[in-house]
Amino acid sequence: MTFDYRVADISLHEAGRHQIRLAEHEMPGLMALREEYGESQPLKGARIAGSLHMTVQTAVLIETLIALGAEVRWASCNIFSTQDEAAAAIVVGTGTAEDPRGVPVFAWKGESLEEYWWTAEQILTWPGADENPELGPNMILDDGGDATLLVHKGVEFEAAGGVPQATPDDPEEYRIILDVLRAGQERDPQKWTRIASQLQGVTEETTTGVLRLYQLAEQGKLLFPAINVNDSVTKSKFDNKYGIRHSLPDGINRATDVLIGGKVAVVCGYGDVGKGAAEALRGQGARVIVTEIDPICALQAAMDGYQVARLESVLSEGDIFITTTGGKDIIMAEHMAAMKDKAIVGNVGHFDNEIDMAGLAKWPGVRKIQIKPQVHEWVFPAGPGRDDQPGQNVQPGQNNDGGHNGGARGEHSIIVLSEGRLLNLGNATGHPSFVMSNSFANQTIAQIELWTKRARSDDAQDAPREYEKKVYVLPKILDEKVARLHLAALGVELTELSKDQAAYLGLDVAGPYKSDHYRY
Ligand code: NAI
Repeated sequence: MTFDYRVADISLHEAGRHQIRLAEHEMPGLMALREEYGESQPLKGARIAGSLHMTVQTAVLIETLIALGAEVRWASCNIFSTQDEAAAAIVVGTGTAEDPRGVPVFAWKGESLEEYWWTAEQILTWPGADENPELGPNMILDDGGDATLLVHKGVEFEAAGGVPQATPDDPEEYRIILDVLRAGQERDPQKWTRIASQLQGVTEETTTGVLRLYQLAEQGKLLFPAINVNDSVTKSKFDNKYGIRHSLPDGINRATDVLIGGKVAVVCGYGDVGKGAAEALRGQGARVIVTEIDPICALQAAMDGYQVARLESVLSEGDIFITTTGGKDIIMAEHMAAMKDKAIVGNVGHFDNEIDMAGLAKWPGVRKIQIKPQVHEWVFPAGPGRDDQPGQNVQPGQNNDGGHNGGARGEHSIIVLSEGRLLNLGNATGHPSFVMSNSFANQTIAQIELWTKRARSDDAQDAPREYEKKVYVLPKILDEKVARLHLAALGVELTELSKDQAAYLGLDVAGPYKSDHYRY
């Protein structure tokens, strides 16, 4: 069998396979689902377009979806996050490098933005679907919402009479998206509408993608049902927090090998990811300062023992700055220009717009030096005090370089990780398997939910649908199931409610044990 794929180096497949084998041991949730559902094949007929970091852990997810009956095409949801050996192993599957028998994967570490959006198109473009739409994808598994966005934008433009030409004023990435949409539409004028007509639903992995889905649903524009996997407790309270607690210092260490202990680390945002980031940096001996816009999270950070400050107040203190907000324009070029010499700047929020990379590149006289892939030194030229720059909170004559240069400031630099994109995946290999087993068990269960309860062509038009074009979270009993699947591996002894105790609390002995509004 031959199929189309694009990875960096297919010969890496053996190395990838060894890592996948070890990861399986650390992913008891996914392996238990293979055991439970392998025979009944609940995903038979599902053709899943997957857009999620092509790592070793994702490889175990992909092979779980296949073991449950699905067909998949896969791309990464970030230009730097692919582990090339994992991608190669998934393509090869049970075959060989010469005769691959696995999955069409379109992912490699270090894609350009044009290539990235090309890969997104590839997972939605299935062989034969031009003539027969039913051969196209009927499910999306998304992380950050880019695959979902491509379909929605395509449909929107086709409804309006065609994809517009990009204008020079459009942001670069938007121009690229328009080009991809238009090229697809030129081959098939109804391409995106046709794809959307087959889609039964999307399961979304992360906070940022979920936000986009709720916005679409509120505007009445969501084209198919969605399950918000992120807000399963066993996802966001584990992956976002404990995952980052592991993979953030991993990324900083691999990128810079700078001792974190004794340094001042500034963490922007104290949500789930921020909490894990702050704990990890404190665990390494850093003094951590948190910035927040939400009074509840700011108070939490204060009670957890962190200084809470505005970014502008601590620019001259921080040695390491990490954004975790999912928002935009958090660290601007003028902030970076005012930082200590060799301050490290990185982001673990989903998109790269938390750090003003465009403004940095345009800074007068700035130089960019590649230290190694995904690690860049940005050198600011010598000049007067930085009170001459807009948006500064630095007083005339004051400098932030430890007072070495009097009123003026000599040449100084900062280190930016992964060009402002997710550094835990760009500079390291993302979250470890065990925590991803929780996230991906939720993903698998969510795919089963949407696929087995999909709208069927033989349903009466007015038959009530279990899932409408809205955003859902998985029922708590399934969330508890995901946690249960991971207890034995950690030697956890769970206490069982007696019938009497259960009646007293008004619960079922088998769960769920908390109300939907319980916050953990
Ligand atoms: P969250 O909503 O729990 O936390 C974000 C926090 O940032 C909130 O408390 C919010 O009040 C705060 N915030 C927003 N704007 C701010 C500003 N201008 N300054 C300071 N604080 C601000 O979201 P969560 O789950 O922590 O996710 C954050 C981002 O990380 C999202 O983009 C998500 O998709 C991404 N993510 C990344 C992962 C990774 O592996 N790198 C893993 C999981 C999520």
